[in-house]
Amino acid sequence: MIKFERDFSLKKHNTFGIEARAKYFFSVTYSSILQDIIRSEFLKDKEVLILGGGSNILFVNDFEGVVLHNLIKGIRLTGENEEAVFIEAGSGENWPGFVDFTVEKGWYGLENLSLIPGTVGAAPVQNIGAYGVEQQNCFDHLTAVNLKTGEQRKFTHAECTFGYRHSYFKENPGWFILSVTYKLMKNGKPVLHYGPLKEHFAGKKEIKPEEISEHIKELRRNKLPDPAETGNSGSFFKNPEIASEHYARIKSIYPNVPAYPLDNGKIKIAAGWLIEQCGWKGKRMKDAGVYHKQALVLVNHGSATGNDILQLAGEIKQSVLEKFGIELEPEVRVVM
Ligand code: EPU
Repeated sequence: MIKFERDFSLKKHNTFGIEARAKYFFSVTYSSILQDIIRSEFLKDKEVLILGGGSNILFVNDFEGVVLHNLIKGIRLTGENEEAVFIEAGSGENWPGFVDFTVEKGWYGLENLSLIPGTVGAAPVQNIGAYGVEQQNCFDHLTAVNLKTGEQRKFTHAECTFGYRHSYFKENPGWFILSVTYKLMKNGKPVLHYGPLKEHFAGKKEIKPEEISEHIKELRRNKLPDPAETGNSGSFFKNPEIASEHYARIKSIYPNVPAYPLDNGKIKIAAGWLIEQCGWKGKRMKDAGVYHKQALVLVNHGSATGNDILQLAGEIKQSVLEKFGIELEPEVRVVM
């Protein structure tokens, strides 16, 4: 008999630190128990939410379904050749801990993704990215189980249809990811094209993953709030993509608008900059605020409710739309 917790507080399970309760809660510590849960039919006709570190989620209401909290651990080497290693991690492993492990081994691939809060299983779902790298760059495959049918299978890179903060699993949330395998390089090439990285390492040869990781940790600590101190979920919105004519109009008024041309002909604009231009940086509505060093990050100054954060996000969205004609989309998953 599997024992689900009832009316369980999620405050410690979301980095915004929002008080919300789950009707049912269960910590999944090993993969085969999922088959028992599926067979028991407890999930039938109930909404299911798979929760990793809770670092990309905003609870606006209590959750009336079943929260499956992922605690599946384990890291193992599954293959190796002269150039590369294949390393598999349990989906409930802590992402920054996993990255540190690979960096300490001297393997190249994940160092730019140091210190991103969350779990290994969440990384491919939203295809996490930072400082010029997305996890898809060294993703090999993952295994997942379908919570309705119990089918367990492998997903290749192509099957995950990764995009900017996007994957197959965003539209098909019924798959519980069990493990993810990355291909990391023994003598890789550092990715340093992100402006501040390029500057920092200019002229330097033979840069080890550890040096990059250390520098990225410093950059993140300087710019992003530590969720252990101030509730937040990293970037609240995605960086929007706009048509080149639209970009040209904005640039004629704001020559310094930070923008990145994309392969699809569109231009990606820094949402943090748009929000700052609308005067939001450091502002506060009740206990919901805009971080004073990075306007893309919304923070909980203490006892904000999910609704307080959502209202602030709504006001920000409206002012960016009015000033720039751009509709921001949340990057954080909003659970109503
Ligand atoms: N900017 C401003 N004002 C602000 C914030 C940013 O003018 O308040 C400008 C910066 O000066 C810079 C540009 O906007 O010219 C981009 O800023 P930054 O390099 O800080 O990155 P970002 O685009 O705001 C993205 C990711 C972050 C990731 C960083 C670093 C998204 C939604 N966010 O932020 O990811 O760490 O790049 O690569 O793509 C996350 O997803 O939670 C996250 C933190």
